[in-house]
Formats: sequence, structure tokens, C-alpha cells
Amino acid sequence: MKKLAGPSKINTSVFISGTGSNLKNLIKFSLKKKSPILIRSVISNNNKAKGLTFAKKNKIKTKIYKFKNGYNNENDIIKYLKKDDINLICLAGFMKILSKNFIKKFRGKILNIHPSLLPKYKGLNTHQRALENKDNFSGCTVHFVNSRLDSGKIILQKKVKIYKNDTPAKLRKRILKQEHIIYPKAIKMLQF
Ligand code: GRF
Repeated sequence: MKKLAGPSKINTSVFISGTGSNLKNLIKFSLKKKSPILIRSVISNNNKAKGLTFAKKNKIKTKIYKFKNGYNNENDIIKYLKKDDINLICLAGFMKILSKNFIKKFRGKILNIHPSLLPKYKGLNTHQRALENKDNFSGCTVHFVNSRLDSGKIILQKKVKIYKNDTPAKLRKRILKQEHIIYPKAIKMLQF
């Protein structure tokens, strides 16, 4: 990856669909002097995504793309990102599947955070599935995105203990706390 923004910052775009606690945390991280990233834009498929308010508060531009079947507006998104020399895309609670073509255009430059210890529990409802299986641990994973769902190379994981009286909501909350720690850490580990 080449350095493009300022002397040492990587032009980054964050993709969200919902609450945006990871986005909020990545913004905080990006504002640190030594942070390797500069967040240039926040993209969402959902114009009601709560997380968009964090972007607005921090004067980061936002763009809504529908990511509809067929990806007919995909070239617009690619153009939009290339215009800002985006060199890193962080998916943070982004609920759409990116096309192979899109992933190819940003090969090795798209990261995702997933709320399980991959390769366990790819896809949705991870906390519920971990509880149903009576696992002792769950956790979270930062990984590169490839064309197979939640299957790209793992960068960093954090284990989280599951307790007897856990509910999906309780477990989610504890895992989210760890997500906020490992996402910036994983970004710092990248070889730019
Ligand atoms: C997180 O649990 C993340 O791992 C998953 O979606 C959730 C997004 O949460 N991909 P938030 O919108 O960042 O609060």
C-alpha cells in the first residue's frame, strides 16, 4: 500500500450500515497524532444509519449508495473512492456483500471486523450461535476481505469468555468493547 494523505497518513473510507460504534472508535483513533489513517469518507447503504451522525459531527463527508443487486452503481462508488485516493476500506457493521469486481479493485485493502472467532460462526447471529453451542469462549476478528464471506486472512483476534448467565445482548456488549480495541490495533499492524 502506498502512502497518500499527508506525510504518513493512509486515505481511508469506512463503510457502515447501522449504529457505528466501531466507526466512532475509528474516528477517535484517526484523530490521534500517530494514527496511520485519515478518514476521508463514510459510505453507507442506509441513509438512516445512526453512525452517520458521528461522521457529520467530525466533518467527514458521507455518501449513501444502495449497493443494490447487480451493483449497477458500483462504478460510481469506485470512482468516488478513487477520487480521494482511498487506499484502505474499513467495513464496520456494513451489512452488504461487496461484489467480486469491487473487491478486486481494492485487493488487499479492505478490512472487516466480525463478532466471532473466525472461522467459527461466519455470517449473522454469531452471539446466539455461540451460546446455543455452549461454547466457553467467543470473541472478535479483524480480517482482510476476499470474495468469500468472512473468509479472508485473519489479522487479529481477541477471545472473550462466555459466562453461564450470558445472553446474546450481554455477550455482544462485551465483545464490542474488544472490537474497539482490536480494530485500531490491526490497522497499526498493516504494512503500508
Ligand atoms: C459489530 O459487532 C461488528 O463486528 C459487526 O457488526 C457490528 C457493528 O457494530 N460486523 P457497530 O455498528 O460498529 O456498533
